[in-house]
Amino acid sequence: MYQSLYRKYRPRSFGEVLGQNHIVRTLKNQIKSGRIGHAYLFCGTRGTGKTSVAKIFAKAVNCPNSVDGEPCNKCQICESANNNSLMDIIEIDAASNNSVDDVRELRDNIIYAPSSCKYKVYIIDEVHMLSGSAFNALLKTLEEPPQHAIFILATTEPNKIPATILSRCQRFDFKRISSKVISQNIKKIAEDSQINIDSRAIALIAKHGNGSMRDAISILEQCASYNDVLTYDDVCDILGTVNDDTLFALVNSLNDRDGKETIKQVDKLMLYGIDVNNLVKALLSFLRDVIVYKTCGAESEEILETEINDVILKASLFDMAFLSNALEKLMDLQGKIRYAQSPRIMLEITLLKLINPEISPDIDSILDRLKKVRKCD
Ligand SMILES: Nc1ncnc2c1ncn2[C@@H]1O[C@H](COP(=O)(O)OP(=O)(O)OP(=O)(O)O)[C@@H](O)[C@H]1O
Ligand SMILES: [Mg+2]
Ligand SMILES: [Zn+2]
Repeated sequence: MYQSLYRKYRPRSFGEVLGQNHIVRTLKNQIKSGRIGHAYLFCGTRGTGKTSVAKIFAKAVNCPNSVDGEPCNKCQICESANNNSLMDIIEIDAASNNSVDDVRELRDNIIYAPSSCKYKVYIIDEVHMLSGSAFNALLKTLEEPPQHAIFILATTEPNKIPATILSRCQRFDFKRISSKVISQNIKKIAEDSQINIDSRAIALIAKHGNGSMRDAISILEQCASYNDVLTYDDVCDILGTVNDDTLFALVNSLNDRDGKETIKQVDKLMLYGIDVNNLVKALLSFLRDVIVYKTCGAESEEILETEINDVILKASLFDMAFLSNALEKLMDLQGKIRYAQSPRIMLEITLLKLINPEISPDIDSILDRLKKVRKCD
């Protein structure tokens, strides 16, 4: 059976979990010292390892040969846990089992001793989807589950969890994963799966993952069926995003205060069939990279070596005030454009106002004009 890439590369031990060291370390220590809690809440952005870590933890507390808090991944228990056939690890999707009756059923079953393990572990995914009365029905059990039971609740929306539930759990916040770490993993997965892809293309995929490892792996998978050898341009095409060189040409014309060239560049981009929303998004991300590079240099965790190409280096010579003003104005535009009837016109006028603050009535532009007047004095 075909298994999607992100499931094939699900981490099976704590050591394979990337970018969540603070959580992994605490959980391993708890297992080592036998101070295991009875209720955990895993929160954070999608695709950052919540379900994976819950599965590893459930396995590790039950593995008889665990070393240093890590499951052995060889024994009977680890093996059945890895192919999802272990009776004592119970995964519940709260999105589709969110009623009081579902929780009642859980309460009726939890009292029975585990069948082959030391602990019965209940992993409740998307727990914010439980109904109000289902949460209430869960409270008592969550506070005092039988000795043999452990709860792991996972959610992307901790703000939707009642305080009564929160205060009964140990909470772990999963972080967005940096594009550097995502890109290293994508490189490894591509090599392992014999996907031929260049490093600039990998950097673009990592960036589009936007902190989510799963999203990045899914993009890689989508790209892999497009071409045998994947280039940066291919990935741009697939993602419907704009090439950095074209973005530079546009930003350069803004910096030169060349309105005619700016309009020409926008037209060129539109002819490629790029949607205005995506263009603004790409411009924002480009300006952000240039600003981060200007501020932090090449060492920053959030900027990849492969992203620091000639184009970023050239753009980093632009004035910081120009870059940040452009970024701000485009961010405003991004908010408005979604509902606009003529997004292209809004984009063009925003760009022209950047070039000619005189035509813009806002306070920044007035300040800009004042400065110019002062300079003339
Ligand atoms: N921290 C990580 N280290 C390595 N791989 C990861 C990590 N996080 C996610 N992945 C990859 O993404 C896939 C999905 O991760 P997982 O199901 O653990 O995410 P999640 O946080 O539970 O997401 P969701 O909120 O959507 O349920 C994994 O199978 C793995 O391929
Ligand atoms: Mg999950
Ligand atoms: Zn084991």
